[in-house]
This record gives sequence, structure tokens and C-alpha cells, in this order.
Amino acid sequence: MPQRPYVIDQMISAKQIAARIEELSDQIAREFAGTDKLVVVGLLRGSFVFIADLVRELDLPVEVDFLEASSYGDGTESSREVRILKDLRGQIEARDVLVVEDIVDTGFTLSHVLHLLKSRKPRKLRTIALLDKPSRREVPMKADWTGFEIPDEFVVGYGIDFAQRNRNLPFIGKVRFTDAEVED
Ligand code: IMP
Ligand code: MG
Repeated sequence: MPQRPYVIDQMISAKQIAARIEELSDQIAREFAGTDKLVVVGLLRGSFVFIADLVRELDLPVEVDFLEASSYGDGTESSREVRILKDLRGQIEARDVLVVEDIVDTGFTLSHVLHLLKSRKPRKLRTIALLDKPSRREVPMKADWTGFEIPDEFVVGYGIDFAQRNRNLPFIGKVRFTDAEVED
């Protein structure tokens, strides 16, 4: 199916994101003060820009690892079935762990990932999501820290894609379709 034409309207600027990351990183550093090494787990691929900025603001010894869970495919609707496509490289048993997600939408992805990671018995497991769409939630789930709550809009930029495009935008923008088709 050919891509429908769309434009991107800025919703959250790069400056607003940077300021929020400064605030959040202070709170996270307090929560994990005294840790010998925090394992920061980025959920691929959408969190790669966020985790890069976040760890550089974190005044803690950190190790970075990644986990990839299946998500949307190329559409704008969640598949609801979460599979692990790439697992962590390192062990997290008895470690301090921070899971970094781009967006909590239905909540399926984060709840599945947390269930899995909890079974590995970390010492402390916390979550941070850059964006949260609370109105879309289907399973009860709230990250310990959230960058911004947003309405039910499909967003791109700052690592987040629409059909693998627009991850490289420095800001968060919403997708607005410009053709006359009725959305299904
Ligand atoms: P959930 O399992 O429905 O909570 O979906 C979470 C995942 O869906 C996120 O990690 C994103 O990868 C993706 N997602 C949710 N909303 C959007 C969006 O507005 N734009 C792009 N990806 C999204
Ligand atoms: Mg994702």
C-alpha cells in the first residue's frame, strides 16, 4: 500500500525535551543513589535517541543494554501480541535496572517486558517513558517517570517512527494526513 501523504506538526520542541530530561535525570539519580552500576535498558528502536540523551545527563555509573520487543509493524495500530526479538546481553539478577521506553500507548509492550525482567530477579526495577498516551491504555500500566503526557495522536521524531521514517527529527511532532481519505 502506498504511503498516504502527511505533514508533521511540531508538538514538543527539542528544547522542551532537553529541559525535561534534566529534571528527570535528577530524580532518577536520587532514586538510584549509591548504586554500584545501574543497568539502563533501552527498548529498541524507538528509545535510542532518548536513552542517549538521558544517560549523558545521569550522574551515576551506568551500563547500557538493549532489548527489542515487536510492536506496530508498519501501521499505526498496536498488534497486541508482544514478542521478544532481541534479548539483553547482560545479566540483571540482583542489579539495579531502569527500563527506557519511548511511548506507553496500550501498555502491552511495557507490561510484557516488565513481567519478563521481573522474573530475572533484579534488585530494583524502574521504568521511564518519554511519552504517555493515558487515554489509549488497555492494560493498567504507568511508568515510574514520564516525560510528557500527550493526547491520542500519532507522533514521530526524537527516535520515534512512522513506518520507519522520521526518527531523525530533533523534536516530537504529530502526523497529520493531508489527503481526503477517511481514516479507517
Ligand atoms: P503499546 O504496547 O501499545 O503501549 O505500544 C508501545 C509502542 O508502540 C511504543 O514503544 C512505540 O514503539 C509504539 N507507538 C505507540 N504510539 C506511537 C506513536 O504515536 N508513534 C509511533 N510509535 C508509537
Ligand atoms: Mg517501541
